[in-house]
Amino acid sequence: MCVLLHLLLVLSIIQCSEAGNKSQEVLHQCRDEEKLSISLCAPIIEVINQYPKLYTDRIHDPMYYQNLEKLCQEAKGCVSDLNCSEADALRNDIDKVCSYSLFFYAENQKCLQKFHQKAYVANKTEDSSCYAKFPSFQNEMDKKYKTFMEGEECFMNHIEENCNDTSRKFFVKSYNYLVEYMTNKPEIRTCDPYHMFLEQECMGIFAELIDVATSGLSPLELVYNWFMNDRIVSAKMNVLVCSQTFHYESRKSATL
Ligand SMILES: *[C@@H]1O[C@H](CO)[C@@H](O)[C@H](O)[C@H]1NC(C)=O
Ligand SMILES: *[C@@H]1O[C@H](CO)[C@@H](O)[C@H](O)[C@H]1NC(C)=O
Ligand SMILES: *[C@@H]1O[C@H](CO)[C@@H](O)[C@H](O)[C@H]1NC(C)=O
Ligand SMILES: *[C@@H]1O[C@H](CO)[C@@H](O)[C@H](O)[C@H]1NC(C)=O
Repeated sequence: MCVLLHLLLVLSIIQCSEAGNKSQEVLHQCRDEEKLSISLCAPIIEVINQYPKLYTDRIHDPMYYQNLEKLCQEAKGCVSDLNCSEADALRNDIDKVCSYSLFFYAENQKCLQKFHQKAYVANKTEDSSCYAKFPSFQNEMDKKYKTFMEGEECFMNHIEENCNDTSRKFFVKSYNYLVEYMTNKPEIRTCDPYHMFLEQECMGIFAELIDVATSGLSPLELVYNWFMNDRIVSAKMNVLVCSQTFHYESRKSATL
């Protein structure tokens, strides 16, 4: 009986995975004329990719987001009537690149930084909220990935309570891509998405430092706090670690 069940299970798994592959099998390798159509989409994807650098000074403007979304629609339209495998891969790439560039919209950045700030405080103070399960500066990427995958609900609750409509929609749609960026640590430090997202963690801790420092009433208290308050002292330490972790040089060269 057990063996039979086992066999049934195995069979159904095989069927499942075959079914899963079938839809991909439909896609043939792109023919030359299809490849040509794909190559015509490349410039617009490159513009999307460069968008944050091109418009660094406009990230506070809702138009930044709207224009970029329009470009993303255009890019998708560009490959929409191609059914071959490279075009399918490109559709995924477009979503990923769009997630990256759209993220730079200031509201989105604020939203994520706030999350890191709360996570940082919660983990430090060992409070019982789900934020505490997201330790800052997790260096092991598989652990970090697991944390974000298992903590998706916590993250989405944060988004729901702390972010604007646009950001809410954005994070729901882009979460998986963002986590991919956050946990894809490159061998060498360059001005890459991984370190850009790491900077978001640093900014979260920095915000905590500012918040605690400015909540002091008198200047005297503030000075006292700066050196004596545990939360400030430890946040200061971590901002220091942060600034060493994050590669400012590469960032400078990227903005040139
Ligand atoms: C599905 O297809 C991919 C290649 O398209 C192949 O690598 C993989 O082994 C297949 N999976 C199964 C379960 O047949
Ligand atoms: C792409 O494939 C789907 C079904 O897999 C089909 O409905 C659609 O018409 C195809 N599009 C083109 C442009 O061939
Ligand atoms: C804080 O993060 C560490 C991992 O660095 C984890 O072991 C610990 O359980 C976290 N604290 C809380 C309260 O969840
Ligand atoms: C978006 O949310 C921020 C708080 O995160 C708030 O300060 C801002 O006014 C909101 N903007 C809009 C257009 O609602």
